[in-house]
Amino acid sequence: MFTTRPPMGWNSWNTFGPKIHEKLIMEIADAMVEKGYRDAGYTYIVIDDCWSLRERDAEGNLVPDPEKFPHGMKYIADYLHQRGLNFGMYSCAGYLTCAGYPASYEHEWDDAKSFAEWEVDFLKYDYCFHPVSVRADILYKRMGLALANCGRDILFSACSWGSDHTRRWIKETGASMWRSTGDIMDSWASIRDIAQSQLKVMEYNGHGCFNDMDMLVVGMNGKGNVGLTGCTYEEYRLHFSLWAFMNSPLMIGCDIRQMDEQTRSILTNRDILAINQDPDGRSPFFVNSHVFTPAENRSPDDAFYKDYPLDTPILAKFLSNGDIAIGLFNLSDTEVSMWQGTITFDMLGLPATSGKTLELRDLWSGEVFRAVNGVIQINKCAPHDCRVFRARIVDAN
Ligand code: GLA
Repeated sequence: MFTTRPPMGWNSWNTFGPKIHEKLIMEIADAMVEKGYRDAGYTYIVIDDCWSLRERDAEGNLVPDPEKFPHGMKYIADYLHQRGLNFGMYSCAGYLTCAGYPASYEHEWDDAKSFAEWEVDFLKYDYCFHPVSVRADILYKRMGLALANCGRDILFSACSWGSDHTRRWIKETGASMWRSTGDIMDSWASIRDIAQSQLKVMEYNGHGCFNDMDMLVVGMNGKGNVGLTGCTYEEYRLHFSLWAFMNSPLMIGCDIRQMDEQTRSILTNRDILAINQDPDGRSPFFVNSHVFTPAENRSPDDAFYKDYPLDTPILAKFLSNGDIAIGLFNLSDTEVSMWQGTITFDMLGLPATSGKTLELRDLWSGEVFRAVNGVIQINKCAPHDCRVFRARIVDAN
């Protein structure tokens, strides 16, 4: 299935790990609708690892664990579809899933058929216990092809953690998103490390196949399967803003049945979501890079990034209506200085001869202001915090 927008939804792994069951999924679905998440765009509900029995049946089919899912998977699909939600499931390209349940290697076509029969809309496909004799791209092509022929439109979500040069071949496989990083944990260090590694692979992002920076930890507050120290409100806000800015799929990972108001206000910030879901799906770009001379030019190798300020990236993204999204993400432990927070129009591709200026709206505070003399000055950004704006191009006079 081809998608032009990063998929949005909820995934069971971050909070519940193996403790998943029918009642939980139905309650999550209810909360998605009642609390307005579905209407904000979060439509996929994905059951991650640990949903099946430890053995296939005599015909070689995967069997949902009857204690966890007594009515089977089609029952869940119906419940979700009746509520305007989509159903996601999980398997793996190896012999076993990461938690040791049967996986799809040499069963790709049987399993794609089962998923289609259960009316699944999304398949997350992991990379544990894979045969070393088969190339990574072939493993993903096998399932991509099986899904494309299963008789149902199923979004293929590849999860090989960026290993084996995933970015070079993933678009060939039919995947609509690819995990470009290892697993996230609910801590600031995890968010920062993923952010910095992902800033180096931004250009692989785009329509049809989005870089997946892993599920959100916003609102976990240190609880659940990947809960560690938890994060502050500002850290969660930066995490959400950056994932949105970088076109990552946005899969909520906390228990949305019992979520505080701060968490809800982050996850449903419509202005931030609009940047993520912009129809053009353009990649963000670094604004505060070292200045390249035309002769030097850009080269898409790692050396290119060595001069980038990975501690205080300022990113911009062109939006479909001509606006520019601009974000400063302070991944460092010190306040951003005035010098670091200076953006000239030139850096954005807006020449002085245009006769234009920028009207900026701060997407977290709502404050609106105009840039002066061709410069945007972001005076303040505390450690682990961010400033995100939507800039409209207006006449200078
Ligand atoms: C891997 C994936 C995680 C999750 C677990 C389940 O670690 O990267 O996102 O699916 O497996 O076991």
